[in-house]
Amino acid sequence: MADVPPGVKGMNDILAPEVSKWHFLEQQARDVLDAFAYHELRTPVLEYTPLFVRSVGEVTDVVEKQMYTFEDRDGRSVSLRPEGTASAVRAYIENAQWNKEPVTRWYYMGPMFRHERAQRGRLRQFYQVGAEVFGANEPSMDAEMIAMLVTMLVRFGLDGGAIEVSINSLGEPEEREAYRKKLVDYFSGHRDRLDDDSLRRLETNPLRILDSKNPEVIAVAAGAPKLLDELNEASRARFDRVRKLLGGLGVKHEVDPGLVRGLDYYTGTIFEIKTKAGELGSQNTVAGGGRYDRLVASLGGQNTPAIGFALGIERALLAIPDTAESYEPGLAVFFAPMDAPALEFALPIVHDLRGKGIRIEIEHRPAKLATCSSAPPSCAPAPPSSSAATRSRRAS
Ligand code: HAM
Repeated sequence: MADVPPGVKGMNDILAPEVSKWHFLEQQARDVLDAFAYHELRTPVLEYTPLFVRSVGEVTDVVEKQMYTFEDRDGRSVSLRPEGTASAVRAYIENAQWNKEPVTRWYYMGPMFRHERAQRGRLRQFYQVGAEVFGANEPSMDAEMIAMLVTMLVRFGLDGGAIEVSINSLGEPEEREAYRKKLVDYFSGHRDRLDDDSLRRLETNPLRILDSKNPEVIAVAAGAPKLLDELNEASRARFDRVRKLLGGLGVKHEVDPGLVRGLDYYTGTIFEIKTKAGELGSQNTVAGGGRYDRLVASLGGQNTPAIGFALGIERALLAIPDTAESYEPGLAVFFAPMDAPALEFALPIVHDLRGKGIRIEIEHRPAKLATCSSAPPSCAPAPPSSSAATRSRRAS
């Protein structure tokens, strides 16, 4: 027999029983987003490449090294979306959404594509649940969004104590300009310890050196000046307010002055959530986000403050302690007609019951009592302790 061409590395099939755990997570996420009055946004997986270059940033790992970019048959450069924010902003501008409502709350779920080194929790096609809010720049919006994300993780079944929220503020681009000079001075004094990427970024985008994955560069970056120390009074006061409101919502968090995030569009509050739960190992950042108050205008829209986050579904699934099997819906009835007349008799009854929403499997192959007792699962009815009970407990 000819060999089947393999699936693409880092892109997985999702089968039962695992898919039941996905359904559970997606349903919980939708329920939470619904309670916070978000609407779903569905965008294409393909966009013209400049959208990502101009939003995520030309000098970022995502754009420089990870995008699936190719020419379509019309000769235009398109990219599989590496993230969802850029598409949401494009949709916001193209649909003149600000004319319809003062504040837009969107969420999305779907596959994203990054050509990264594939490993546990790091895939080339991975799925995100993301949320974006346009039109509100109040600190309470930042706090509400982070609290919503934590609520979601708790609803997934993660232990609240294992959820680690880090926040930082990147301030305004004008504040970052002064900081940029300090960073260049600092890293210029440590050129011998920088790798080629970082040396290049020293000229183009020194902030990006701070999210290098190279251990030697990380060690140098640990001693770099902190952006938080450079913020003006207004930015500091805003950041303090976000923290106070977060406290009021019961969200424990740490300020991480080294947190910069890997995408260029951020301004002001940024945050990440890590968890020690489950089997995540080193890829334990389950979600990240922040404000991007300048992005809508820089892509041709009106001045519109915005904030969002995205959560990695595969990573969240690895952090949920229960097995996939415990999310499997059980069968209500299993029919095993013993011969053709019995099948003919049973089929309309089963059909009718299924039409009423009862989950039933019927054996179409001629069943023998002997095979039925020895060949589960297709012959054996679901065990009485069917996980449907577990599922409804979780959903409640
Ligand atoms: P991000 O930090 O690049 O942010 O991705 C968000 C989450 O997606 C990560 O925390 C991680 O859980 C998951 N993720 C990222 N890359 C991979 C991968 N290769 N394999 C598996 N999971 C992955 C964004 O994408 C921003 N768009 C978030 C945002 C929305 N900021 C504002 N609005």
